[in-house]
Amino acid sequence: MSEAFYSQARLYDLMFPGGGPAVDFYRAEALRQGGSVLELGCGTGHKLIPIASDGRSCVGLDFSAEMLAEAQRKAEERGVTVEWVQGDMRAFDLGRTFDFVFIAANSLLHLHETEDLASCFRSIRRHLAPGARFVLDVFNPSVCLLADADGVRRTRESLSFVDPDRGNVSVDVAEIYDASAQVTRGTWYLSTDAEPDFVVASIEIRSIFPQELPLLVSLGGLRLVERFGDWTRRPFARDSPLQLCVCE
Ligand SMILES: C[S@@+](CC[C@H](N)C(=O)[O-])C[C@H]1O[C@@H](n2cnc3c(N)ncnc32)[C@H](O)[C@@H]1O
Repeated sequence: MSEAFYSQARLYDLMFPGGGPAVDFYRAEALRQGGSVLELGCGTGHKLIPIASDGRSCVGLDFSAEMLAEAQRKAEERGVTVEWVQGDMRAFDLGRTFDFVFIAANSLLHLHETEDLASCFRSIRRHLAPGARFVLDVFNPSVCLLADADGVRRTRESLSFVDPDRGNVSVDVAEIYDASAQVTRGTWYLSTDAEPDFVVASIEIRSIFPQELPLLVSLGGLRLVERFGDWTRRPFARDSPLQLCVCE
C-alpha cells in the first residue's frame, strides 16, 4: 500500500534529504565489518552511495523501480558503482553471501505480517557470510504518539520543502492507527499554492514493539546481540527514539 508514495522518488529526496548521523553510523559499521554490503529497501541510496564511495562492494535491493532509478542516477553522478536490484525483501535469492547486511530507516516496517518478517529474516540468514552482521533500525513505538493518530489531516511544517520545478511545497498527513494489525495507515498530501494536493499517496507502517523484536528475528534463525537506542550507540531504554539492532 506504500508503492504510490515511493513512486515519487525525486520528491522523496527533496522531503527527506538524507545525510546526518544515520549515514555516519552505517558507514562506520560497513567499514568496521569490511567486505561486501547488502542493503534491503535501499531506496534512493542515502546510505549505500556513501558506503560504496568508501570502496565497499555494494548491492541495493528495493521494490520500487522509481527509487532505484533515482539511486542509479545519483550514483552515476557521483562516479560510484552499486549493483541495484529490483526485488522483494520478503523473499530473495542473490546467489551469494555478504559480510554486512542492513535495513535502514524503518524500511522493515513495510512488512506487516509476521510470516513476511520471518521469511525476510530467513532470506537474510541465507545471505550472511561467516562472521557477517545484520543491522536494522526501526522507531521505538510510543503509545502516546500512536494514540494521536486520529485521522485528522494536519500540516507537518518540518517536512515542507522547496521543489525547484514547483516552488514551496507543504506536506499534510492524516493517520489512523489500527491497533489490531499494529499498523499506522497514513495519507500524505503534497501541495503548492497553485497545485493543491498534486500528490495524494498512502503509506502504511507497522510498529514493532521492543519485546517482540528479538522473537521476530529468531523466527528467521537470527539472534539479536546488541540494541542501541540512538545513533550515538546509547543502550536501548524505554524512552529511546530508535531500536538500532545488531543481529548475527
Ligand atoms: C523509508 S524508505 C528508506 C530508504 C532507504 N533505506 C534510506 O535509508 O533512505 C523505504 C524503502 O523500502 C522499500 N520497500 C518497501 N517494501 C519493500 C519490500 N517488500 N522489498 C523491498 N523494498 C521495499 C520502498 O520502496 C522504499 O524505497
